[in-house]
Amino acid sequence: MQSLQEKASEWNGVAAGDAFAIDDGNVFQALGGTTQPFVDLSTNFYTRVYEDAEEWFRQIFAGSRKEDAIRNQYEFLVQRMGGPQLFSQRRGHPALIARHRPFPVTRQAAERWLHHMQQAVATTESIDADTKTKMTNFFRHTAYFLVAGNEMTRQGHGTS
Ligand code: HEM
Repeated sequence: MQSLQEKASEWNGVAAGDAFAIDDGNVFQALGGTTQPFVDLSTNFYTRVYEDAEEWFRQIFAGSRKEDAIRNQYEFLVQRMGGPQLFSQRRGHPALIARHRPFPVTRQAAERWLHHMQQAVATTESIDADTKTKMTNFFRHTAYFLVAGNEMTRQGHGTS
């Protein structure tokens, strides 16, 4: 059976090698070894999301406070990109597919999410050009990994 990672690569056009270039070297250290660039990015991203003119997309986030969403995301990104395990210390295993289960992670939602994230990455000055490329590929891959997970769980195959 095709893995979720393989499906994600097929759908989003990002080769697995490019998606995981995020693990070449340590992004957290490359950005100066503080949480600030990640706080900047997540604040930038969620400001766009909570102000989205597309109500259907904004509604997906209506159950969370913006400050909480920012913290959840930046702590995850710090941890995933080579920094301290802030997310797991506070929230446990990331289990991204399970945590997104309440939300309609369709291809349309993934594209809207990526639209905001691409703009956030492009306009966050504390992130250098090489890291921007790595992050863009990582986000594209992970968004479609979640779409694949969403389709799988809604068909009732598997739980994680
Ligand atoms: C949380 C939607 C993609 C990582 C959330 C939340 C929503 C959401 C509504 C709840 C906000 C909160 O309370 O924290 C979506 C949609 C996506 C998407 C529609 C479209 C594909 C992604 C991607 C990543 C990601 C690509 C990682 C690269 C997270 C994390 C949380 C989160 C870490 C916090 C989970 C928690 O602490 O419980 N997402 N997301 N999401 N999302 Fe996404």
